[in-house]
Amino acid sequence: MRLAPQPSAQPLWLLLASLLASGVRTSPMLSTGCPDRCVCDDQLVVQCAGQHLSSFPVNLPLATRQLIISNNRILELPPLGLNYLSDLVYLDCSNNSLTEISESTFGNLRKLAYLDLSFNTLTRIEDRTFGPLSSLVMLRMTDNPGLSEIHPDAFAENTALQVLDVSGNNLTVLNITSLIALPALRSVGLSGNPWRCECDNEDLCLWVHLEGFKFQDEGQTVCGSPADMQGRRLGEVGLQLRTLCHQTLGSWDYLFFVAIGFVIFAAGTVSAWVMGVIMVLYERYIKKKDEQLDGDEEEETIEKGRTSRTRGGHSNGNFKTSQTV
Ligand SMILES: *[C@@H]1O[C@H](CO)[C@@H](O)[C@H](O)[C@H]1NC(C)=O
Ligand SMILES: *[C@@H]1O[C@H](CO)[C@@H](O)[C@H](O)[C@H]1NC(C)=O
Ligand SMILES: *[C@@H]1O[C@H](CO)[C@@H](O)[C@H](O)[C@H]1NC(C)=O
Repeated sequence: MRLAPQPSAQPLWLLLASLLASGVRTSPMLSTGCPDRCVCDDQLVVQCAGQHLSSFPVNLPLATRQLIISNNRILELPPLGLNYLSDLVYLDCSNNSLTEISESTFGNLRKLAYLDLSFNTLTRIEDRTFGPLSSLVMLRMTDNPGLSEIHPDAFAENTALQVLDVSGNNLTVLNITSLIALPALRSVGLSGNPWRCECDNEDLCLWVHLEGFKFQDEGQTVCGSPADMQGRRLGEVGLQLRTLCHQTLGSWDYLFFVAIGFVIFAAGTVSAWVMGVIMVLYERYIKKKDEQLDGDEEEETIEKGRTSRTRGGHSNGNFKTSQTV
């Protein structure tokens, strides 16, 4: 048995808690041995693969650095059992029956560099699931046939991540906002998912287009929908989506332009008609006015003649004259 020389404070606390919970005599976590059906070597490797285990092994040495529990039927990873292994660097849980990873599952595994969750039955990955894994370099999470949802920020805090493999799942979209910000990421596996090649996935397709060298099996990273895109590579449709999603117009836009065109045409026609009517009326008015003026002038000359004769003069007549001059 190899005990960690100086276990850190948090596992000790967890240990105490578990002691209180289960009683000193039967506590599995203080065991000095090796779990049933597992092989422990002096390199701090615990090998439990293919042992028909239906639950997470107990009696794990505290200082375990590598734990391999692949090819079993384990249903869940118990946070308490896992998190006291604070020196764990390598954890292979592939090919089990894990359906859920909770926020606290990996709460204390700050040294974990390799994690394999492939061939399980996970359906979704939440926001903080991998948050505490600040040393994680490689995450394999392939072949979970029902896995259709990964939270946009699921990997946001895994700043050491270099290799991420999520191929062979049921993913249709992947928000890459936090992924492209990971400084060390150099290899991504996306193949074997029914990717939806529509505008909501444009960023992902463009990323594959621009940095194809980063993607494993890029040739198998293809669209699952819509029907007319099926089987085409994401890297190939990236540019097409960018054009499609930002420049073309929908049928409603065309309808809008037709309507606007009609309104402008109608307004032009109506205003031309109105102008025409106004012109005609104005012409008539001018003509009438001219006739009236002619009449006035005649009247005036008569009046003038009359005024000169009487020398008194009509104020009314004088006024009209000054107005018309
Ligand atoms: C999964 O484990 C079972 C044994 O539990 C084994 O028969 C099977 O081949 C494994 N599948 C993969 C993909 O490794
Ligand atoms: C994959 O997801 C679709 C919905 O996106 C669902 O209808 C289908 O059942 C899922 N497949 C599996 C194997 O869970
Ligand atoms: C991706 O996630 C970020 C942060 O959660 C969000 O702001 C952004 O709108 C998302 N992008 C898409 C295309 O949904």
